[in-house]
Amino acid sequence: MRDDDPIIEPSWRPQPGPQERFINATEFEVVYGSARGGGKTDAALGDFAWHAARYGEAAQGLMVRRTRASLDKTIRRARQIYPKDGAKWIRSRSCFEWPSGACLSFRHLANDNDAELYQGHDYTRVYVEELTQFPKPEPVDKLKANLRSAEGAPCYFRATCNPGGPGHTWVKQRYIEAGTERVVEAIKNPLGGPDFETDRLFIPAKLKDNPALIARDPTYAMRLATSGSEMLVRAWLEGDWSVIMGAFFRGWSGRNCRTLRGSEALDAVPVLRLGPRRAVFRGLVGGGFGNGQFTFVSAAARRPGALSRVVWRWRRRQGARTDRDGGRPGHPRAAERRG
Ligand SMILES: Nc1ncnc2c1ncn2[C@@H]1O[C@H](COP(=O)(O)OP(=O)(O)O)[C@@H](O)[C@H]1O
Ligand SMILES: [Mg+2]
Repeated sequence: MRDDDPIIEPSWRPQPGPQERFINATEFEVVYGSARGGGKTDAALGDFAWHAARYGEAAQGLMVRRTRASLDKTIRRARQIYPKDGAKWIRSRSCFEWPSGACLSFRHLANDNDAELYQGHDYTRVYVEELTQFPKPEPVDKLKANLRSAEGAPCYFRATCNPGGPGHTWVKQRYIEAGTERVVEAIKNPLGGPDFETDRLFIPAKLKDNPALIARDPTYAMRLATSGSEMLVRAWLEGDWSVIMGAFFRGWSGRNCRTLRGSEALDAVPVLRLGPRRAVFRGLVGGGFGNGQFTFVSAAARRPGALSRVVWRWRRRQGARTDRDGGRPGHPRAAERRG
């Protein structure tokens, strides 16, 4: 089927703005992220409804979340949307199947090895819900190897997320910091030919882009606004990625951090200067080690060397040991490579 052939349109319609942009995007990776209630999950579900309408049996999707409980909520919403197009929920296979043969499976990736379970499956869409709940990108990246279509349907990776969570830092660095324009990256061709190009796009979501929710639940914004600290509210309501969720100090934010230079181990470790002699640095935030929830180190130091030793000791305490990749246990550089 050609992309401009007429189709029987699905019943789910995108709202104007970012949802429309999301379902029309042709970049390989699209991350739709930020405010809670911005319409991200709906857009991901709706995107597959349109993909299924266009490509029929060739449309094979996988939607993953980190936990089973959070997946249930997405499935509940899908059960309101897909049956209108004739799709049936098949509990035994945890998937929706359309009369055409299109299929969207729902799975959770509780631990990093779960991604291996999907080896050998071909998908034309992989959706990762709440990308920042994944402390490390590896399990999510592995899923991309399953994007393949024998019928020639376009294969895309799509993800949604809010700021905060154990994966805040890597998601922000990879997808958010580059801004909202298409980013093109050259990938070395493993077969020796010319380099490949891959592209990605970040689409920011705001609550105001979801009039469907605002009309149905006008007090939702008020509940978000009173749900926590000023920083949390900025993250959830406005989708502000400069906040550092889980940081020990309430005032931590990318806005008031700066990077100390001069010592190798301290490169890129943001610090907050409290005075001419005291510096507090926050260490690795989110996803460095473990679940990254407690993401601070505080140290009062005058010399970078002293600070560096504290970082090293702290990293070792956080589990910066390496059995697998053979680096020097606890060495700051080894820790960074694993990051
Ligand atoms: N295109 C749409 N059509 C109808 N309702 C929508 C649409 N987009 C969002 N909504 C409504 O808004 C609610 C919240 O959107 P959701 O996608 O869950 O937000 P987010 O995932 O960003 O937190 C949905 O449960 C749905 O009721
Ligand atoms: Mg959601």
